[in-house]
Amino acid sequence: GDVPGTPPPPPAPSGTLLLGVATALTGGQATFGISTRNGIELAIKEANAAGGVKGQKLAMKVYDNQGKPEESAQAVSRLITQDKVLVILGDVASSNSLAMAEKAQPAGVPMISPSSTNPAVTEKGDYIFRVCFIDPFQGFVMAKFARDALKAANVAVLQDNKSAYSIGLTEVFVRKFTEMGGKITATESFSQGDTDYRAQLTAIKKTQPDAIYVPGYYSEVGIIARQARELGLKVPLLGGDGWDSEKLFELGGTAIQGSYFSNHYSPDNQEPRVQKFVADYKAAYGGVPDALAALGYDAANVAIDALKRAPDTSGPAVRDAIAQTKNFPGIAGTITLDDKRNAVKSAVVLKVGDGKAEFVTTVNP
Ligand code: PHE
Repeated sequence: GDVPGTPPPPPAPSGTLLLGVATALTGGQATFGISTRNGIELAIKEANAAGGVKGQKLAMKVYDNQGKPEESAQAVSRLITQDKVLVILGDVASSNSLAMAEKAQPAGVPMISPSSTNPAVTEKGDYIFRVCFIDPFQGFVMAKFARDALKAANVAVLQDNKSAYSIGLTEVFVRKFTEMGGKITATESFSQGDTDYRAQLTAIKKTQPDAIYVPGYYSEVGIIARQARELGLKVPLLGGDGWDSEKLFELGGTAIQGSYFSNHYSPDNQEPRVQKFVADYKAAYGGVPDALAALGYDAANVAIDALKRAPDTSGPAVRDAIAQTKNFPGIAGTITLDDKRNAVKSAVVLKVGDGKAEFVTTVNP
């Protein structure tokens, strides 16, 4: 029986392997973060239903970075020192991931960005990975599409000069489009959160472009499309993955229809594993998963696979296991990490339709 005065035994160790997530759940990038979190959560649920990893269950700790680099850095510090996570997943916007990588790398905690495409992110060090392609490829894809498919000769650019993503993508697009014999008629800038783009669009209109490249995020692009049409600019807008949000259709209305953007995946892909993911995601969250959801799911699965293969859960062991990821069947393509810790994958071009982005073509690297 009980010995009087003996304290109760300590609770059993919780036995969870914790993944840390820092992403935007509020602000102008909120749909990016919500989709990413959902994708990660779905991957964790499935892994736990299949028995977990190393006899333990997986769990996640999520912080809202509000779409800001400073908050992203703070969130990562908290995930590392307070929550002692094994792997960090995030973020979407490259400017946030750059700030996060600066904390994760010196701490020796592996970080996988699902969807940041700026090359500098994984250049922060050997603990920083991504499961998506990079912008030198994405910029090439849209330059080639503009030249070959749309037969555009003259294109104007409207970039976000506070976003590492937008600046990087502009640089590649301009270089590639020019190399292909096209001409850039104007380069105008805005800053995240602006609401009036009429001055820049008026300057662009004077140069009579065949299309306008707008490598921004959905919250600004939707408004830019409306203001362009109000000013009588009827040419298509072209963009990158940052357009991917159901909010784009709402903000852009009919003004954004007929425009094109490059992206990581199309939910119309008929491969069985993609269709299973789309169905499971719909059942859990009630909407068609965007590329962020697919890449969040893929990043979490790559982390889970590495935790299974690693001899132990220390930072160096998990880092090495992630680095060895090969032919991993992701939803947004097969993932093999190269020696720069990037995934080399194909891109899709989508056309904005009525409340939906329609698949146009796939471009291989
Ligand atoms: N690639 C963008 C960036 O690096 C983020 C993004 C990815 C946005 C996919 C939407 C879809 O900033």
